Amino acid sequence: MMKLSIRAWEELGIAPPYLPAFYEEESLKAQPVLTPPAQDSSNRSGPKASSVNRIGAERPRPSSIKAEPHLGSPPAIKPSGPAMVSTPEHLAEIAKLDWDRMNKAIEACSACSLHQSRSRIVPGVGDRQATWLFVGEAPGVEEDQQGEPFVGPAGILLDSMLAALSLSRMQDVYIANVIKCHPPDNRTPVSVECHACMPYLERQITLLQPKIIVALGKVAAQSLLNSDINLGSLRNKVHAYGNIPLIVTFHPAYLLRNMPEKGKAWADLCLAKKTLNQA
Ligand code: URA
Repeated sequence: MMKLSIRAWEELGIAPPYLPAFYEEESLKAQPVLTPPAQDSSNRSGPKASSVNRIGAERPRPSSIKAEPHLGSPPAIKPSGPAMVSTPEHLAEIAKLDWDRMNKAIEACSACSLHQSRSRIVPGVGDRQATWLFVGEAPGVEEDQQGEPFVGPAGILLDSMLAALSLSRMQDVYIANVIKCHPPDNRTPVSVECHACMPYLERQITLLQPKIIVALGKVAAQSLLNSDINLGSLRNKVHAYGNIPLIVTFHPAYLLRNMPEKGKAWADLCLAKKTLNQA
């Protein structure tokens, strides 16, 4: 097989055939079958039990990957209900937070009901000076237990999407979700929850100042773009979050269920890379 560089494949707009997982359905099929589905963090929008691969459970984690710490010290901010989040005073408080104080504030947040059912907050993971920001929807069961985004099956696919771009969550990438607490039963977060949590993501973006944002799935795309346009119409375009270019692609959990769409996701990632290179 001809071995071109990732850059050459990107220029051709074709998925590199030698890369694992993200491109090669067979390499995913070769994995043992995942059980049980109820514990699958991608359950909300991920594959059905019979087709899910056990690609998350025993994944080795490089020791250098650090999820945002969970600080037990007193909260910086104590929102008492949804109305608190939308007050200008509260938004102004969030807008002043640094990384560590924001993590404490999220820990203490009770702005929506999701704080009641979560085990751990899942603020984000990665390089705080990252060029790339990937934004997902909300933590699943495994993320809730580990306090790190995308550690379940969808996370493995996200890692291979990053690898296809010669990236990794260890370097030059930050991964966050719109929602920082796990929704019960892996349900899709409702808009009041997204609105309550968005100021934290907005603050993360301000602190991070990424050069490119990739929105993974509908919830991330619609929340970041403040839009109700469907995902299909949002894809394949260069949007902007403030002055930061933003590309919309499928959620990795959706891709696990719909492998043929991986080619489209690769095209989205190529568009993101091209946009970044041109910036
Ligand atoms: N799905 C998401 O959107 N985020 C995660 O962290 C895990 C699964």
